[in-house]
Amino acid sequence: MITSATIDKIFETARIEEVVADFVQMKRVGGNYRGLSPFTNEKTPSFYVSPAKQIYKCFSSGNGGNVVGFLMELEKMSYPEALRYLADRYGIEVEETVQTDEQKEQRSRRETLYLVNEFAAKFFVGLLHKHEEGVGVGLSYFKERGFTDESIKTFELGYSLKSSDALAREAQSAGYQLDAFLELGLVMENERGQYDRFRERVMFPIHNLSGRVAGFGGRTLRSDKKIAKYINSPESEIYNKSKLLYGLYQARKSIVKEDRVYLVEGYTDVISFHQAGVTNTVATSGTSLTVEQVQQIKRLTNNVTILFDGDAAGIKASMRGIDMFLQEGLHVHTLLFPDGEDPDGFARTRGSEVLKAFLRDEVSDFLLFKTKYLLAEADGSPLKKAEAIREIARTLSLMPNEVDRDVYIRESSKLLETEENLLKGEVERIRAKELKSRDKQRERKPREQKIEVVHTPAISEKDIPVTYSQEEKLLELLLNHGHKMLNFILIDEHGALTEPSDVPESVASYIVQELEADGLTFQHKAFADIFQPFHEAVLEEQPLPELKTFLRHEDPDVVKQVIDLTDERYKLSDWEKKGIYPKSRDVVLEREVRESVLRFKEKMLQTIIEQQKNRWEEEGVGEEESAEIFKEIAQLSDLKRMIQRMLGQEV
Ligand code: CTP
Ligand code: MN
Repeated sequence: MITSATIDKIFETARIEEVVADFVQMKRVGGNYRGLSPFTNEKTPSFYVSPAKQIYKCFSSGNGGNVVGFLMELEKMSYPEALRYLADRYGIEVEETVQTDEQKEQRSRRETLYLVNEFAAKFFVGLLHKHEEGVGVGLSYFKERGFTDESIKTFELGYSLKSSDALAREAQSAGYQLDAFLELGLVMENERGQYDRFRERVMFPIHNLSGRVAGFGGRTLRSDKKIAKYINSPESEIYNKSKLLYGLYQARKSIVKEDRVYLVEGYTDVISFHQAGVTNTVATSGTSLTVEQVQQIKRLTNNVTILFDGDAAGIKASMRGIDMFLQEGLHVHTLLFPDGEDPDGFARTRGSEVLKAFLRDEVSDFLLFKTKYLLAEADGSPLKKAEAIREIARTLSLMPNEVDRDVYIRESSKLLETEENLLKGEVERIRAKELKSRDKQRERKPREQKIEVVHTPAISEKDIPVTYSQEEKLLELLLNHGHKMLNFILIDEHGALTEPSDVPESVASYIVQELEADGLTFQHKAFADIFQPFHEAVLEEQPLPELKTFLRHEDPDVVKQVIDLTDERYKLSDWEKKGIYPKSRDVVLEREVRESVLRFKEKMLQTIIEQQKNRWEEEGVGEEESAEIFKEIAQLSDLKRMIQRMLGQEV
């Protein structure tokens, strides 16, 4: 575990506006920064960062939180991962507390794998620059390809020796066990012993989003057709091919800045593009595109340009993959390189200026490109043309935005020389069918949930409890007015309001004691987590928790709730907003606190009554038990009526 001293230091040092700026383009607006939400496809900016409060708030997705929460939400990092990322970015040394063996094992497994990959990457880099074979074969190859020293450094390129076990031996002499090397596929094993996977190859480490080495690609420099040109690390706990995009770590900032990503085929294309100044370029490295990769891209930009080699063999095969971008609402362009040229070669031979002009002038919209392509392929055959129309309709039906869809239906129907209504009808038909099958999938779910609720009254983390808004209100009062000392009106045993107490009590104490008296707890996970320290502080007569401690909470949902609940608009109390200015605010606050507690109790009672009723109606309940339940329901109902009387809701 990371020590709390380190966590404090990270929070004190990290500036949310700087961290967010790595991902989102923002402009200063007054004291805040504003930009397009990285969480949605919005067109008008409603994403705010407050340097003063060190929080972000996204009005289009409803997300909000501190700097750690931002990374967790956007990059899907875990809490410790986000902390480590920040520590890394700000050069803070991470101190760790002693962990249990189990914790240690779990955390250190992945960490060990990363360290081993990083050890290997360093080894390969060292060989490329310092070993005779590395310099003579590897480095001279890269130089011949025109890679600059800067590119070689940025992409951590390296070289693996011809020797069969150079890495295995190096690892052992550095004191490593080979287990992790075997798990990562860096070292392999057969009857004759252990040997390196990568031999006599130039090495391309594949970084994950936080810049750690997840795996490797290695290119042979032999022209022997029997040797695989490229080999890659096998899948492992840290290397998931379908999630990683080559170059994304290096390209990330530029993708955000340019608001566009170029998608190419492989390592060499990415590096050449970077070198030519087109740094917003990533590659899938031989595999076809996955949803996870599309989603990664979507977090950074909505605009994708896919670059095809001149030979065009792969175009048709990749078209279905590209549909995925449309389905995610991204805007896709395609670009075809001249015959016989791939992006890498083009960038190298023509240079930066020509490349940039080409990328600017030669792009075409993917859907129109696809339409033209299929049409040309049909070559006048009516049957093939009908097939092309259906295929285009299928692609169009995937577009989530109706306006986009309509525009494209119009354009495509012109190209296809077919009635716009006919194409539209086909698209609608496919969408209706799709929706129906989605509904069917949904049908089954609620029933499962209901069963869960009946059998486990405790509400799971994600479910919204029926008492949500009552709990929310109580927390709003606790967080904003917890310290306030008030003379609460006493209630007698019949539920009649009497005199204000002459001993003032804090709002926090009142709420905690009232709930404690009835043994009530909060049902919503994040709310319960916020309530808990208040509960503890009141019962132990300790100072109330500071807001700051919640904003550093591990659970981003807690942070978000606290931010929402302490939002400016709550400071202006309801009665002020409504233009009602009472003689004394305290009188109003007292009533608000008292009634909020009652409303929570009322709702809880109602829930319990319903649960008991359900129990009563269940089959197999014996006569005695049935009578018992009935009595309980009657008592609870009495209590509920009393509370309703107190709330002035005579029934
Ligand atoms: N690629 C791959 N596996 C292969 C072939 C290619 O992963 N078996 C990927 C690599 O990432 C490579 C890209 O596709 O960078 C382009 O392929 P290719 O042009 O064949 O590789 P180059 O190294 O550029 O070789 P050449 O110098 O012959 O163009
Ligand atoms: Mn090539």
